[in-house]
Amino acid sequence: AAQLNRVAQAAGKLYFGTATNIEELSDSAYAAIINNRTEFGQITAANVMKWDSTEPSRGVFTFGAGDQIAALAKKNNQLLRGHNCVWHQQLPSWVTAGHFDAPTLSSIVSTHCSALMYVSKFQIPLELNFHPQTKDSWDVINECLNDDGTFRQSVFFDTLNTSFIATALRAARAADPQAKLYINDFNIEGQGPKSTAMVNLVKSLQAQKVPIDGIGIQAHLLVGGVPPTLLANLKQFTALGVEVAITELDVRMTLPVTAALLAQQRRDYQTVISACQAVKGCIGVTVWDFSDKFSWVPGAFTGQGAACPWDENMVRKPAIDGIIAGF
Ligand code: XIL
Repeated sequence: AAQLNRVAQAAGKLYFGTATNIEELSDSAYAAIINNRTEFGQITAANVMKWDSTEPSRGVFTFGAGDQIAALAKKNNQLLRGHNCVWHQQLPSWVTAGHFDAPTLSSIVSTHCSALMYVSKFQIPLELNFHPQTKDSWDVINECLNDDGTFRQSVFFDTLNTSFIATALRAARAADPQAKLYINDFNIEGQGPKSTAMVNLVKSLQAQKVPIDGIGIQAHLLVGGVPPTLLANLKQFTALGVEVAITELDVRMTLPVTAALLAQQRRDYQTVISACQAVKGCIGVTVWDFSDKFSWVPGAFTGQGAACPWDENMVRKPAIDGIIAGF
């Protein structure tokens, strides 16, 4: 069978990648697939680089778990996507309940991003930073917008308004000048109030000379639900002069699995990949884990699942043919 990263790279993309978690790596059938660079050329840590894992108490940084994911990527010569610096979820309580004043919280954000992105932390493969085509990327800001295009309430927004975004991006750039800095969000696949707000946010950052290199489009989709304006939206984003990446692709269905749902899922994967393929500035695609055995979907969406390209027995689903056909 054709392998996904090989197909993506042959089509001119930088990588095809996957998110993963440490626990999964001890599953030998799973490990055999993720360690195959022709299948996956890029890895995202699904959890262990988040704030609760990396700064559980103020100023106490714990990089061990993130290092394990970075070491896996390094061993396999896979790119690494950092995920993430600033998000309203998976925060330690010292951040959410800290009642910090604005200058203090601003300095906490800056310190956190600097520590995460300083290149020797997580043993990010240094040699990759010296290759112009293979820079590591970071989701510096995750999910800062609401579906209606307003800014999301969070401890950061409530205390700092939107200034935390520039603070985080500037700290990230200073800590790792080579990394591609992204804002990442969901429900920005198609055109609408949220993607318009993303365009406006990027424009305003650019006008203020705040470093911003890319927009991450999560793409947690429901079978049959790929927005028809996906391609136009990718063009609208890249017209800003930033790159885009599909960062968390999965296509869930209401269980039980049927042949018809798998066939539609195959078409949906193909539609997403071919939109990225059609836009030069769409650099690569990452699935939010590749096997239904370890997908986050059943835990997050009641009654839904089977969202990944491999099933729970590590058997390739029709979705894989859709991905290959899309490139
Ligand atoms: C998810 C993880 O996959 C789960 O294991 C965890 O319990 C919750 O977070 N958007 C994101 C990711 O940016 O960080 C989320 O990951 C999925 C939605």
